[in-house]
Amino acid sequence: MTTAAITPDALSYVCGIVRDRSAIELEASKSYLIEARLMPLAKLNGYTTTNDFIQGVRVSRQPELERRLVEAMTTNETSFYRDIHPFTALRTKILPELCQLRASKRMLNIWSAACSTGQELYSIAMLIREHFPQLATWNVHLQGTDISEEVLGRARAGKFSQIEMNRGLPAPLMLKYFERDGMTWQVRPDLRACTKFTKLNFVEPWPTMPSMDVVFLRNVLIYFSPDTKREILRKVRQVMAPNAVLFLGAAETTMGLDAAFERIEADHSVFYRVK
Ligand SMILES: C[S@@+](CC[C@H](N)C(=O)[O-])C[C@H]1O[C@@H](n2cnc3c(N)ncnc32)[C@H](O)[C@@H]1O
Repeated sequence: MTTAAITPDALSYVCGIVRDRSAIELEASKSYLIEARLMPLAKLNGYTTTNDFIQGVRVSRQPELERRLVEAMTTNETSFYRDIHPFTALRTKILPELCQLRASKRMLNIWSAACSTGQELYSIAMLIREHFPQLATWNVHLQGTDISEEVLGRARAGKFSQIEMNRGLPAPLMLKYFERDGMTWQVRPDLRACTKFTKLNFVEPWPTMPSMDVVFLRNVLIYFSPDTKREILRKVRQVMAPNAVLFLGAAETTMGLDAAFERIEADHSVFYRVK
């Protein structure tokens, strides 16, 4: 594979299509990063340079290739129990309260929005199994969504490398909820069966969704413009049930974007409720 710096024209095409399709604002100054992410895809499609690949996508206008290019530019960094505090607050405060508030309906909907490869949703599923046995007889829906077909496929498969397992997952939980499958670890079928992973692009029409009691929307708003963040928060608010809570990433906030949210601190964690 030949490495040739991406031309300004090719760079502007990539930034444009990624913004149009996903609302992600790429930093054109980081063209080396863009090139590194596109190189494997270019190679896979038989191109010798990323410039040729970008030109190929541009000319052929094949939706599948365009989709793959956009997906290649998403950042899918995640891990089990990432930034532990939201999970602590979920265990000590939020779920105990929701168990009381929803006792008559015996139903809970939890959404991991922009779930990447699924570690966030599986972390929540294990937390419920470990600490809320009373919920075993409730209707508990654990929904993960993402723009990327590729990460959704990995989330559904529930297979993780040893390196992924070592990031944040305590050994007792690994042994209890996963089984070894060659070089990978597979989520046990009963835990996998209580999760669902489907496609949702924040900037395309949303499918009909149930009212959510807990929303994890972490480490994704950072990629969007203030207007896109505002619009996503408005739509998230509309699917939140009364007393529902929203978790954002440590570097994210609703402040200055959506005054309808109230910021609450508990157990070293910050979460948001609709006022
Ligand atoms: C850094 S990961 C965050 C994963 C997880 N929430 C966490 O905090 O560990 C960001 C995810 O956002 C997804 N994403 C980016 N743009 C999106 C969009 N427009 N709609 C839905 N998901 C998007 C990416 O595919 C990626 O998997």
